Amino acid sequence: MARSCSILVGMLGVLACGPESSDETRFDPGKHLRLVEAVDLDPHPNVTSVKLRAAPASVEILPGIETDVLAYSGSLPGPLIRAKRGDRIRIEFENGMSLPTTVHWHGMRVPNDMDGVPHHGPLLVQPGAGFVYEFDALDASLFWYHPHHYSLETIGAGLYGPLLVEDPDEPELGDEVVLVLSDISLDQNGALYRHPNDRETVAAGRDGNVVLVNGRMKPRLEALSGRRQRWRIVNSARSRYFRLSLPGHTFIQIGSDHGRIESPIEVAEPLMVPGERLDLLVEPRGEPGTTLELRALPVARGNSLPQSELITLLEMEFVGVGSSPPLPDLTRPLAPIDATGATVVEIGLTMGERDGVVEMGINGIPYGQSEPLHARVGETQVLRVMSESGFSHPFHLHGFVFQELDANGVPVRPLKLKDTIEVPPLSVVDLAVTYDNRPGIWMFHCHILDHAEAGMMGELVVSP
Ligand code: C2O
Ligand code: CU
Repeated sequence: MARSCSILVGMLGVLACGPESSDETRFDPGKHLRLVEAVDLDPHPNVTSVKLRAAPASVEILPGIETDVLAYSGSLPGPLIRAKRGDRIRIEFENGMSLPTTVHWHGMRVPNDMDGVPHHGPLLVQPGAGFVYEFDALDASLFWYHPHHYSLETIGAGLYGPLLVEDPDEPELGDEVVLVLSDISLDQNGALYRHPNDRETVAAGRDGNVVLVNGRMKPRLEALSGRRQRWRIVNSARSRYFRLSLPGHTFIQIGSDHGRIESPIEVAEPLMVPGERLDLLVEPRGEPGTTLELRALPVARGNSLPQSELITLLEMEFVGVGSSPPLPDLTRPLAPIDATGATVVEIGLTMGERDGVVEMGINGIPYGQSEPLHARVGETQVLRVMSESGFSHPFHLHGFVFQELDANGVPVRPLKLKDTIEVPPLSVVDLAVTYDNRPGIWMFHCHILDHAEAGMMGELVVSP
């Protein structure tokens, strides 16, 4: 997709981008969202090469107040990295922080040594040092990037950004916006608030008190009544779940974590757990001059946990009237995974307590003390993921995609390719996965970062 970028924002290799200019009738709903876009420094059409620097920065989140955060290339969220399926992506990363770090490309099927986990593959990127991440964009979808070392602290301080791989063969489906949902904890002076590390906080997971869309509180999204929009959304929060609602409207879900789903489905109030992505079409309707709120409905992340508050995510403002072309056929020929006879691997997400400290684990054993799970390239397994407590957990597997199975062991239709999924309280979710040819040590964990840090994380060795 072509785009026009205009304002150069310093030496960080970042541009602020406007709407496409090729088509005068094109409408940009997201002009107030001001998502910064990374500049492709390689003229080759099939190479996307960007610079990315993690460093302290100061940004305006509360009106008129500067907040000291950690940011990628000076912006929160980090710049949108845009590529096409089939591209070679190259990221020249620099660590301008006083902490060692890595960059993990959440959802991307990268080679193991590009996955940005510190324990194997590329070493930690030390303060002042750099690393070049390089991989092919195998799948078209929205992905995201974040540190995989001190993740709770650094994601909480602002380090996360979107990576969009577009499908060059896909027709235009609507005026497109990328929405990065997150939250941040600020005190009354607008400074980052440090939560206590007590057992309640660790067990519940820390929700930020300020909810953000593309780094802003309640930003404005413009709409033409009757003109379709395509929302590509990622939940980058440390622990917050978002249940979306646009009063009087339903969404057409066309994609999930790994590109389009088998066939579109109508959804009224889609839930997004941390790490998940959604690709939604919406045809907003309203009188010009009026506004409509996109809301996050109250959600409880556990049977004993209080519900979150109802929050306005953004304000949709009708600035005129438009129309939408008819939708093309949006079915995607995906093959269901045949899981008959596959090895079942039990992954219990467990919570306990030792000497007054919350200890979480996989099958009762915290990360660091556990033995890895094993699989072979080409093998199909069923990961039986169980929440053994009254808590809901977002389960994430690195490097591979899975299909959720129903009670009869067959993939749920329409088929979806996922890497992150909710495991509701006291329930079992069966996930079929076939390991493609990228051997190595891969991680899996709960994406409530407090839980991951407290031990709800493990390794899977995929052998050639
Ligand atoms: Cu979003 Cu292990 O990561
Ligand atoms: Cu969890």
